Amino acid sequence: MSLMSLIAALPKTELHLHIEGSLEPELMMALATKHNVSLPYTTVEEVAAAYQFDSLQSFLDLYYLGASVLRDEEDFYCLMRDYLQRSHAQGVVHCEIMFDPQTHTERGIGYDVFMPGFCRAIEEAKQNGGPSVLLILSFLRHLTEQEAIQTLQDAKPYLDRITAVGLDSSEKGNPPEKFARVFEQAGQHGLLKVAHAGEEGPASYIWSALNTLQVDRIDHGVRCLEDPELVEHLVQHQIPLTVCPLSNVKLCVYEKMEQHPLRDMLAKGLNVTVNADDPSYFGGYLLENYQALVTSLALTREEALTLIRNGFRASFLAPEQKQYWL
Ligand code: ADE
Ligand code: ZN
Repeated sequence: MSLMSLIAALPKTELHLHIEGSLEPELMMALATKHNVSLPYTTVEEVAAAYQFDSLQSFLDLYYLGASVLRDEEDFYCLMRDYLQRSHAQGVVHCEIMFDPQTHTERGIGYDVFMPGFCRAIEEAKQNGGPSVLLILSFLRHLTEQEAIQTLQDAKPYLDRITAVGLDSSEKGNPPEKFARVFEQAGQHGLLKVAHAGEEGPASYIWSALNTLQVDRIDHGVRCLEDPELVEHLVQHQIPLTVCPLSNVKLCVYEKMEQHPLRDMLAKGLNVTVNADDPSYFGGYLLENYQALVTSLALTREEALTLIRNGFRASFLAPEQKQYWL
């Protein structure tokens, strides 16, 4: 059995996935037509051709533009349904999915629209043998902490459907400590915590996410390698890092996949997982990320098994559920 066939056949997790980043060009164009939203593209090919990024911000500009076609409950249902169908087909059995409420509430679309859409698709997947899903409410870090606090307050009627809070969007200039109070409040509500850190921003942001926000996992975290003391800390405490190889290359964190440090990270004993981030923007879902590692980094069978196992270890599943998969 080839390594890729083995990876495809094994049950896997997805721990770093922005649902808005799974909006495929076909659905984007269909929803633009449905709601009469004008986009700077007229065909699916033009959408795909526009996905050339030179930084995180250049991607985020198109990501928020794309999300502007999501208007009613059915749109959010279709978005989640399509993602879960694709991940199920790739052998993903458990997903922890981020959504950005502020991307929608800023446009006047509330929790009462997107949450029922997401939850309907999640329930349906469960009934049909699809992946289990936990939701992560992610704050947009380019906005103020006060706006994040409001976003958490607005989520109160839905907290039983939300497992964790996260922090995403423009990293540079928006350090984790800007959100200390809202993360503390989230903790008081019993929510777990993750934050993007050390993607484009410096290793010091990873320290801040750990020490100030008290996160349970770091999203990306690849720039930890610039700080040996931090690497030692992450290894010692086995803090999970949700690494997204295709994303890192597409957003120019690394020039080519051959330069991606994922294998070095594993060799150092870091608790690394593989994830898709924004699959429709970055050229692939989970299996395409593994394929890139196999092709460009010559990932070994042992390393692939470690990565897959780490995904379950790093998940927010209850210990007995983890044990079932491990
Ligand atoms: N929002 C969606 N994808 C993101 C990423 N990779 N980094 C920061 N914010 C994001
Ligand atoms: Zn991300």
